[in-house]
Amino acid sequence: MFPTTRLRRLRYQPLVRAMVRETTLDARDFILPFFVRHGQGVKKEITSMPGNYQLSVDRLIEEVGTARELGIHAVILFGIPEHKDAAGSSAYDDHGIVAEAIRGVKKHYKDVLAITDECFCEYTDHGHCGIVNDRTGRLDVDNDATLDILVKQCLAHAKAGADMVAPSGMMDGMVQAIRRGFDDAGFTHLPIMSYSAKYASAFYGPFREAAESPPQFGDRGSYQMDPANSDEALREVELDLQEGADIVMVKPALAYMDIIRRVKNRFGVPLAAYNVSGEFAMVKAAAQRGWIDERKITLEILTSIKRAGADMILTYHAKEAAKWLKG
Ligand code: PBG
Repeated sequence: MFPTTRLRRLRYQPLVRAMVRETTLDARDFILPFFVRHGQGVKKEITSMPGNYQLSVDRLIEEVGTARELGIHAVILFGIPEHKDAAGSSAYDDHGIVAEAIRGVKKHYKDVLAITDECFCEYTDHGHCGIVNDRTGRLDVDNDATLDILVKQCLAHAKAGADMVAPSGMMDGMVQAIRRGFDDAGFTHLPIMSYSAKYASAFYGPFREAAESPPQFGDRGSYQMDPANSDEALREVELDLQEGADIVMVKPALAYMDIIRRVKNRFGVPLAAYNVSGEFAMVKAAAQRGWIDERKITLEILTSIKRAGADMILTYHAKEAAKWLKG
């Protein structure tokens, strides 16, 4: 009780303040997303995500090298294919864009983890995250038909040398299907990071420009989660863990800190949070106008995502944050 207890005592001397800090941020916590496309020497800035580019594999290798020098040792790869079709077939081509990107990255950097986003919205002409048909009497993504091609996609990436796959399509049973596919093919050692609680969020806006993946009709409400739900996120995570997920994810991060905390409290398993494109773009836009201090705000956001319970963060701010953390 006051005056014996004075919490300000631990805030008086900055070194003491540092000593009692509960959450720390490190470049090792970050997973940096990249958008890869065919070609040579391509580096095309994404207008709504300053400092992020669509890159050809040769330029990707340079950019991964820069990130690595800053201490970042994990990247997640998104592909923009040369052509799209109804079944997203270039997603599981052994020489598809992501498979080639994995080979490039792993050839140059053994100590950088190549994680792959496993989904079809970038590869389908309709922009949905799987095979669309009207089997149920209405156009919708066919869950089980999509699982078959999802396994093929993951296997193509595993064969190319991916260190981890991250299925993001919110199909029921996706983790089990991939786990079985991997185990049957001898990839028992490859971990799965599941986008377990992925919400149908407007915060993905800039990403859809970056990955050229907006849905051509309707929205993703029949497969991604309703932002109003929280108990359901726990069910999603629980099922993914039962199916064999090694790391689970909550996405987006900022407006979903309560979900991150609930998942951490309930399951205590390795947890990733995706600080998505819209969260990044908002900070950038306000910073460009001089309305906020980008450095302080970004480090505060990333620290808060960890404090909420995330062990690792997928973030477009990874390189800048790593630089700022170095001093
Ligand atoms: C699906 C996918 C999306 C994102 C990551 N994986 C887009 C979507 O579901 O529409 C969004 C990431 C971001 O906004 O930064 N392939």
